Formats: sequence, structure tokens, C-alpha cells
Amino acid sequence: MSRSVYVNGAFVPEAEARVSVFDRAFLMGDGVYEVTSVLDGRLVDFDGHLARLQRSCDELSLPNPYDRDRWLAIHREAVARNGLIDGMVYLQVTRGSSGDRDFLWPAPGQCPPTVVLFTQSKPGLADNPAARSGIRVISLDDLRWGRCDIKTVQLLYASWAKTQARQAGCDDAWLVQDGMVTEGASSNAYIVKDGRIVTRQLSRAILHGITRTAVLRLAAEQALEVEERPFSLAEAQAADEAFITSASMFVTPVIEIDGVPVGTGRPGAFVARLREIYVGEMREAAI
Ligand code: PDD
Repeated sequence: MSRSVYVNGAFVPEAEARVSVFDRAFLMGDGVYEVTSVLDGRLVDFDGHLARLQRSCDELSLPNPYDRDRWLAIHREAVARNGLIDGMVYLQVTRGSSGDRDFLWPAPGQCPPTVVLFTQSKPGLADNPAARSGIRVISLDDLRWGRCDIKTVQLLYASWAKTQARQAGCDDAWLVQDGMVTEGASSNAYIVKDGRIVTRQLSRAILHGITRTAVLRLAAEQALEVEERPFSLAEAQAADEAFITSASMFVTPVIEIDGVPVGTGRPGAFVARLREIYVGEMREAAI
């Protein structure tokens, strides 16, 4: 089925959607994005994603073209037009096109941003088999730029890393800087040891995951101990359990790192419970 996608103010059939070849996101990766999950036709943690979109825009002096209510209306219209039950809404804001290739950012107001938004249907998103089987990851050097806290469309290293993982017979990659895990290629990374969750602290080295914020809040509400600090691969391989979080994977167990089983090598009860709490709360609070 052809999707109805949003481009610069209007919904059009996907085959008719057009963006300039001079768009700065196409030429320079000069744009930011968000991915918001949809469960039962409702948006998960919408306000979290909107807050991060604003932050990404502010960090890059990129005008955010719409206020929260307009964004919400567009998201909801995309969900309705496409009959989306479970899946994701992808949005992208770029610095637009000034009609030529130029390294310099156009002066503020000189060219309008490009806005694209589309849906991706994933029936049974919250019932992903990976949640039951767990995923296997490889480690790779974190060779990304130094502002991983900004959610830019420059995803070449992330897609390269995921492809390396797939070619190695695994599901994903964990990225490592100075011997310490930063995050997954498109997720935040965690270990569990003696009932305590360990995950890297917020900085420019990682994306400030919206799922991460929610999971840490829920963990605190459950009186679970959380340490926000770097951890090494060796520490991760010796952990009781490990997991990732992201908008599309929620809380997903990691059962093997570089061929070494984590804990029993099977998904554990701690992460399963955390996922249940997260998905339950988010489904309830979705708008
Ligand atoms: N990726 N770290 C990176 C590098 C990511 O790309 C993502 C999300 C996360 C998790 O953030 P959140 O919980 O807000 O989804 C962490 C999205 C899902 C993607 O690119 O498809």
C-alpha cells in the first residue's frame, strides 16, 4: 500500500513526494530527525521526542518550523491517513535548500527548512521476537563525530556498524571509546550486575535516549539502583544481564557480546521485568 507522506506542509502519495537535490541534508547531512513509536494507534512518549527535537535544532541553530501542537496534529494525521496501528513515525527537519551546494549555512530566514514525516508499519512492535530470544552484539570502535548527543541524519557510521554486525552473524554493534562502551549503533547500552543497572552517563558521546530517560525514571520508581558511569566490554561480558533501549526496540536483552555469553546466555528475568514495566506504562500513557 502506498503511504501518504508529509512534505513541507502537505500530505502526498509517497511516489509524488519531492525534495530538492540541493537539500542540505542530501548534500551535507545537515538535518535532524526523530523516531516515535506508535502502539495501538497512539504515540509513545511524544513530548519526550519533541523536546529532544527542539534541543537538536537549538544545538545546530536550525529553526524548528512548528510548535508542539502542530507537530502533534501532523503526527496524528499521518497515523490516521495510513491506518497505523503499531509502528513508527519518522520525522526529519533539514536546513533546506538555497538552490546550490555551499558549505556555509544560509543566513537565518534565507531558506526555509525542509520537513518530511512518514510512517513505518510494524505489526506487533511490542511483541518483537528479539525480546524473547535476546540479541547478539559485536563491539566496534566508536568512530563517530564528537556530537553524538545531537540526533542528526548523519547515520553512515551507524549503518556501517550494523551491517558489519549482520555480516558477523550478529544483530547489532556496541561502540567502544577508550575501552569503554558508549552506546549501541542505534540504541543506548546497559548492563545489570547484582541487581544494579549500569549505563553510561549523559554527555556529548551518546544520544540522550528518550527511552533511556523513561527507563531510568521507572527504575527509580521501582527502587532499583542505577549507576550512570562508563563500563568496559570485559565488565559487560561478566555482567548478569545486559540490554539496549530505543524507541523501536523498547527494552531488549543482549545475550552475547563478541561471542561471549552474558550471564546464562539467555534473556534474564530482570530485563524481562523492566521491559514489561516500560511497555505497560508507555502503552498506557501514549497519546
Ligand atoms: N535510534 N543511541 C543512538 C545512536 C540512537 O540512534 C538511538 C535511537 C538511541 C535511543 O534513543 P531513543 O530511546 O530516543 O530512541 C540511542 C532510533 C530509534 C533510530 O535511529 O531509528
